[in-house]
Amino acid sequence: MLKTLAISAVAALSLSAGGAFAAEEGHVEDVDFSFEGPFGKFDQNQLQRGLQVYTEVCAACHGLRYVPIRTLGDEGGPHLPSDQVRAYADQNFEVFDEEIDDFRPAKPTDHFPGSSLAEAPDLSLMAKARAGFHGPQGTGINQLLKGMGGPEYIASLLTGYTGEEKEEAGTIFYENTAFPGGWIAMAPPLFEDQMVYADGHDNDMESVAEDVSAFLMWTAEPKMMARKQAGFVGVFFLTVLTVLLYLTNKKLWAPVKGKKLKL
Ligand code: HEC
Repeated sequence: MLKTLAISAVAALSLSAGGAFAAEEGHVEDVDFSFEGPFGKFDQNQLQRGLQVYTEVCAACHGLRYVPIRTLGDEGGPHLPSDQVRAYADQNFEVFDEEIDDFRPAKPTDHFPGSSLAEAPDLSLMAKARAGFHGPQGTGINQLLKGMGGPEYIASLLTGYTGEEKEEAGTIFYENTAFPGGWIAMAPPLFEDQMVYADGHDNDMESVAEDVSAFLMWTAEPKMMARKQAGFVGVFFLTVLTVLLYLTNKKLWAPVKGKKLKL
């Protein structure tokens, strides 16, 4: 009797501890991104919309300093024509040029600038940095089964504000259901009907959050499509090789295996 009591007490304790941990973890919604799964591809139009959101909204605070602007023209990415890449760099960013000791408009060969707000982290690799350990008790099961990762986290973060805020030591924190700990120092960056897309795509907050999250997945893993393709070529060649080796093996042993032993 005592033993059963002790066991159930331990079980109840671990359950409640698990519950507390789950609350810390933050809630992440699953999104079916086009680039998930072995056949997934980045959606070029979505990446272009995401670039627009980043440029018009997030770039006010966040940088992308590991991303060369010219890669916006790469196939498998937003794939902008080269004159548009040049115009985009020229119109949107200024970089400090040591040779002329002054600022000048950016060129495609420059990288995106770093964060202009010191507290705002650089977003180049954020989608990979926040990729891991979603799902029940941080086990990562949702990542394994549903492909949930960094882009889902970012999309949930952008739409996860409850509207509550509090001030602590001079900083305002905003309640957010996706952020671990529940309170983030980033003010809600998105609001309804804020974006006007040239392609007329849905601009409700969820779509906008997904677009910019997909774009940030591309900045974090620009060669994803090339990697998947190389994987397929590899598997294809290995399959052909396996068949050839099997047939060779058959042929080599045929004279030996075919003979009946005379005893
Ligand atoms: C007004 C400035 C500002 C804008 C605009 C802004 N952010 Fe932030 N962002 C911040 C700050 C500050 C933090 C750090 C918050 C913290 O650690 O509490 C942050 C943190 C983040 C994080 C990291 C959260 C984590 O897990 O640590 C992500 C992802 C993010 N922002 C994405 C975005 C995206 C995407 C946009 C554009 C849609 C955007 N932000 C617009 C200021 C901004």
